[in-house]
Amino acid sequence: MKKPNRATTSSAFTSGRSALGRRRFLQTVGLAGTGSLILPKGTLFGANAPNNKLNIALIGVWGRAMAHYNALAGENVVALCDVDEKHLAVAAQKFPDAKHYVDWRKCLDQKDLDAVVCCTTDHTHAFVANWAMNRDLHVYCEKPLANSVEEARIVRATYLKKRHKLATQVGTQRHAFPNFNRVRELVRDGAIGRLEYVSAWGTRKIPKPGYLPAAGDPPPHLHYDLWIGPSPWHPYNPEYFSGRPGGNCLHWNMYWDFGTGQVGDMGSHTMDLAWNALDADLPTTAVAKGDPFNPEVSPVGLEMTWDIPANDWRPAIKLSWFQGGRMPDSPMRAIDLWKVGHGAMFEGDKGTLISGFNNRILVPLGDDADFTYYRPRTKETLLPPLGSFQGEWLNACKGSLKTSCNFDYAGKMIEMMMLGLVAYRTGLKLQYDGATGRITPRKAENDLLYRRKYREGWTLNG
Ligand SMILES: NC(=O)c1ccc[n+]([C@@H]2O[C@H](COP(=O)([O-])OP(=O)(O)OC[C@H]3O[C@@H](n4cnc5c(N)ncnc54)[C@H](O)[C@@H]3O)[C@@H](O)[C@H]2O)c1
Repeated sequence: MKKPNRATTSSAFTSGRSALGRRRFLQTVGLAGTGSLILPKGTLFGANAPNNKLNIALIGVWGRAMAHYNALAGENVVALCDVDEKHLAVAAQKFPDAKHYVDWRKCLDQKDLDAVVCCTTDHTHAFVANWAMNRDLHVYCEKPLANSVEEARIVRATYLKKRHKLATQVGTQRHAFPNFNRVRELVRDGAIGRLEYVSAWGTRKIPKPGYLPAAGDPPPHLHYDLWIGPSPWHPYNPEYFSGRPGGNCLHWNMYWDFGTGQVGDMGSHTMDLAWNALDADLPTTAVAKGDPFNPEVSPVGLEMTWDIPANDWRPAIKLSWFQGGRMPDSPMRAIDLWKVGHGAMFEGDKGTLISGFNNRILVPLGDDADFTYYRPRTKETLLPPLGSFQGEWLNACKGSLKTSCNFDYAGKMIEMMMLGLVAYRTGLKLQYDGATGRITPRKAENDLLYRRKYREGWTLNG
């Protein structure tokens, strides 16, 4: 099944020098695009210059991964990894020169890699991301970055040690929508006055009673044991694999051992709308309530609230997440937040800003909400467009190292969301020390909720 890797054999850098030396060269070439370096005459770019392309491993090659095919086609995809050999065959049509793997641990040991794009199930994201960074590989990881507080902290810590040489991005691509900038500008520039409370919400509901019952044997093309990977064992059922490409995650992400339901799913995208405008740090408290706890399935209905510390431009605020039929109060009866769909709301002492992913409503409130305190930006001072979200990461790998949703920003955000789930599962109001990760009250069960249980033989830090 494996094919010769043309990119590997044709590259002077991978055949004659170390992969690290090649990566340094890529970073130098990348800097040229910023105008900070003049390259010698005759330096080749584009199709004739294979050395300014990244050697990429695509791990999880079907479904969501297909949304990345075109962006990756401009680079050298030298490794494809998937637990489903039929999916490998689909991706091989697009990337015929890549080597094939079914176990991502083996894939990450391919010597010529520069970077990894991870589109597997949520319960493997922190593993793939952390192992890749341990091998000095840049990482683009689909959301959510982690399924527990501990996973978020470990991945972020690894990234922080290597941020001077690695580019990371979590796949919250809506972040590139111009509306994200416009919302940030309105909040930062005081259009709603002094910020007091922020909420974000999701409207998706996927109720399930519990793990699926055993239903036959996995087909021969599916390496089911590797699909289960680090999670506790659950018997095969074809329903876990019955979704459309890019939507199959909705067939497994609500089960605790595979995902965190809408908290990790649309929560990653929608909380990003709020976090992008807040310059938030880890919370100091978490409290939550929702549907009765089911040890097998994450809740549909859920509300979580955190205290977010003050920073240099805004006071300490409360921030909430609502999902599955729960919603914050609308500032005006005439505005139906349900019609916004997934959204975020910023409440200040002069008004409220309501935002969907692509649109926003500014609602001045009260007799003194006359906008004399607010100066709209000129065209020239608007935040610059992000451009292509995947492109931002590819450029970062080649030198800038700058991405909007790196594992520090996105790592803290998902850590906060996972902490909210600990509060939900314990029913306790938690105090949190973000510097140490210490939760109080530290009841014994907190340890299990803060960490996931892994099958023997699997470690986050490989
Ligand atoms: N950013 C977005 O808008 C967006 C949209 C959809 C899905 N996603 C995310 O993408 C991920 C994949 O979602 P999906 O719907 O494509 O799921 P999926 O179940 O279809 O899995 C995607 C691919 O990964 C493979 N895979 C699963 N486990 C693997 C493993 N351990 N090693 C190698 N390959 C493995 C599957 O066989 C499949 O080919 C999820 O984490 C989901 O949250 C993001």
